[in-house]
Amino acid sequence: MEYDFGHEVNDMDFENRMIAPEYSPEDAEVENPLRPRFLSEYIGQEKVKENLSVFIEAAKHRRESLDHVLLYGPPGLGKTTLAGIIANELNVNLRITSGPAIEKPGDLAALLTNLNPGDVLFIDEVHRLSRSVEEILYPAMEDFALDIITGKGQMAASYHLPLPKFTLVGATTRAGQLSAPLRDRFGVILRLELYSPEELATIVRRSAKILGIAVESDGALEIASRCRGTPRIANRMLKRVRDFAQVMSNGVITYETAKTALDRLEIDALGLDANDRRMLNAMIKFYNGGPVGLDTLAAAIGEEAVTIEDVYEPYLMQIGFLSRTPRGRCVTRAAYLHLGLTPPGETTPQQQSLF
Ligand code: ADE
Repeated sequence: MEYDFGHEVNDMDFENRMIAPEYSPEDAEVENPLRPRFLSEYIGQEKVKENLSVFIEAAKHRRESLDHVLLYGPPGLGKTTLAGIIANELNVNLRITSGPAIEKPGDLAALLTNLNPGDVLFIDEVHRLSRSVEEILYPAMEDFALDIITGKGQMAASYHLPLPKFTLVGATTRAGQLSAPLRDRFGVILRLELYSPEELATIVRRSAKILGIAVESDGALEIASRCRGTPRIANRMLKRVRDFAQVMSNGVITYETAKTALDRLEIDALGLDANDRRMLNAMIKFYNGGPVGLDTLAAAIGEEAVTIEDVYEPYLMQIGFLSRTPRGRCVTRAAYLHLGLTPPGETTPQQQSLF
């Protein structure tokens, strides 16, 4: 595998956030040995796995390259891992890059001309490719050819360069932001979902085994229930909880050590951290729980709108704390109760006793 980590630039300022699902360089060391290499080792995403195994099997049978695959869904769910698995299952090389890392059409041309037949080219954040790079990509994906124009005016010359047949695996957190011509060129479009606590507990136990960490089932489930449906966060929490377990007791992660460690890290029972609570509280305090528009909310809490959409919202919506309406975002009754607040229009027990 060859990695081009030029893309791991994070323009969002929450690197220190324990539950940030974005990749951080610190994850590399822990993620690599933990990455499942084959579909059989990959836990969860059952529908994606079933379909993908059929497409991979069929392509291998026909001795053809696999059709281009688009993976989309919230960050930290294993899109890069799946690209690696696709390459391993097909027994080909994987090249990894990202939309923002490919600055000029020439960068993409260099990547494409260095591929071997059947190789997988993984482009993370594929929605961030520039227009001029996308235009090179269309004929490459469709006809396996590069159409290059050099020079200007009378000196202009066009070249049609054949490329090896390759598979593009594109990943994006937001399929809606992909241009229609690019989206249409992916034959396989797969949506990754947040993981269930049971799946995450299995992932935590698997990771602990690989890292030589002793974890009891209850301890794994406690981490699983606080990692907001995201394996990357679960694996990061596992490392931090191990530190607490080592210092506080005999190093074994029990329910108690996991609970104490995560409480100390200010991650509550449902996996919300101080930032999630800050956002919900701002919506309640300044906008009566909503509806409030995305940009207004972003300005109110000093966060980027995309961060709210990609990082905060998917989980808050999944657990029913936030709803999206045509008029804006609303905090739900369940969120009020979780925060220890009285939902609008309801009376507290103290108020009731006055009547
Ligand atoms: N580590 C991270 N994600 C995983 C997954 N889906 N299955 C197994 N191990 C993982």
